[in-house]
Amino acid sequence: MSTTVQRVAIVTGGARGIGAATAVRLAREGRAVAVLDLDEAACKDTVDRVTADGGTALAVGCDVSDTEQVSAAVGRVAAELGPPVVLVNNAGVLRDNLLFKMSDDDWDTVMNVHLRGAFLMSRACQKHMVDAGFGRVVNLSSSSALGNRGQANYATAKAGLQGLTKTLAKELGKFGITANAVAPGFIVTDMTAQTAARVGMDFEDFQKAAADRIPVQRVGRPEDIANAVAFFTGEDAGFVSGQVLYVAGGPLN
Ligand SMILES: NC(=O)c1ccc[n+]([C@@H]2O[C@H](COP(=O)([O-])OP(=O)(O)OC[C@H]3O[C@@H](n4cnc5c(N)ncnc54)[C@H](O)[C@@H]3O)[C@@H](O)[C@H]2O)c1
Repeated sequence: MSTTVQRVAIVTGGARGIGAATAVRLAREGRAVAVLDLDEAACKDTVDRVTADGGTALAVGCDVSDTEQVSAAVGRVAAELGPPVVLVNNAGVLRDNLLFKMSDDDWDTVMNVHLRGAFLMSRACQKHMVDAGFGRVVNLSSSSALGNRGQANYATAKAGLQGLTKTLAKELGKFGITANAVAPGFIVTDMTAQTAARVGMDFEDFQKAAADRIPVQRVGRPEDIANAVAFFTGEDAGFVSGQVLYVAGGPLN
């Protein structure tokens, strides 16, 4: 890393899946990492993986859709690790259903976690980034942003995150802050296991069927996404901002 300061990163939804792999990867890149998730105890595995690897990590319990919890969590990270200047808005949930069966709660929950969560976390961290004259925001979008059956709520939220990303890039660029989005295709995590269960398929068969449709002929791993996040959050990526990178084993359209 080209800086002598150990910069602090927050990874939301860091207890498992893509967030956990990203926390581990960013620690390897030299960041001190706050692993933030709904339940602080659930972050322990990720924190242990980072520390076993020689890195520094802190478990933080927080619901990203709650203003007060976000404010307290970011304050705690700043006090215990240092000012958070790298933010990965990764926390996410699914509430899939066809439109006619989608409840108000399905809609609101997905908007609150993905959109309100990314907004609250970005707003709470931006002061630290401005003060440091450096910042990196990465929002987890999705291939579903292009539209996906059964995901009116999720596709809307993931497309919305692309708008947020580009706006943050424009507003905050003059402070040395970049904002980019990573839009994964099919990644093997609890989330895709949940989708397989919803459509009544065995998870292995579901992965095989997905791999057949992907140009590189395999499904993605959390580390594939962590790799893209590491690029966007790197010290030398300061001229890359407002971009959406689809990481899906091939082009989507
Ligand atoms: N897995 C995929 O194929 C895929 C594809 C495209 C995009 N994504 C996106 O990548 C991100 C990570 O997905 P994943 O597959 O690792 O999912 P996952 O379900 O395995 O993990 C999501 C994490 O977010 C946490 N979380 C949920 N609500 C939260 C809240 N309100 N506050 C704090 N934490 C909360 C969960 O507890 C969980 O640990 C999500 O934003 C998801 O939408 C995933």
